[in-house]
Amino acid sequence: MKIAVTVNGKRIEEDVPCDLLLIDFLRTHGCYSVKRGCETSNCGLCTVMMDGIPVLSCSVLTVRADGCTVETLEGLKEEAAQFGAFIADQGAEQCGFCNPGLIMNAIALFREYPDPDEETIREYLAGNLCRCSGYEGQLRGIQAFLQWRRKGDAKHFQDPSQRDDRGHQASHADSLLYQEGRP
Ligand code: FES
Ligand code: FES
Repeated sequence: MKIAVTVNGKRIEEDVPCDLLLIDFLRTHGCYSVKRGCETSNCGLCTVMMDGIPVLSCSVLTVRADGCTVETLEGLKEEAAQFGAFIADQGAEQCGFCNPGLIMNAIALFREYPDPDEETIREYLAGNLCRCSGYEGQLRGIQAFLQWRRKGDAKHFQDPSQRDDRGHQASHADSLLYQEGRP
């Protein structure tokens, strides 16, 4: 079936098999941040935005994206980078495989609830599984990011990506965020 979809600002017109999953279409087009975990709609690793709504790309047929705008982490680097630095700052990731999916859903959370309470955060991100961590570090990173945004005062609560020790933190965050070259 011939489809037209805009991926990270780039319009793609292509003839695709009717059973092609969106995750496979996106990875074929270089979006390696979209990770394949469970393939059963349970882990959240494959999360992308479709017309601004987070969806599990392992459970969406590519033909359903016809006429839609799809965003992956590759297209949201600026929005993701600052938040990702807070996650890295808390040592919240270990292998980092779950990070892209977590960050996509966190961005969706912040868009929908600009100042969420802890219950809302836990509920919203309940579908993002991590096989390495106990989730507490991720929660601390989210809360630190929200606290920094609330204060809006770098003197009291500094953005880790702007600190003097940025060399370590940012390169760590960058590698985990994008994992380019680690399909
Ligand atoms: S790979 Fe899609 S939810 Fe796990
Ligand atoms: S840090 Fe390894 S899966 Fe989350």
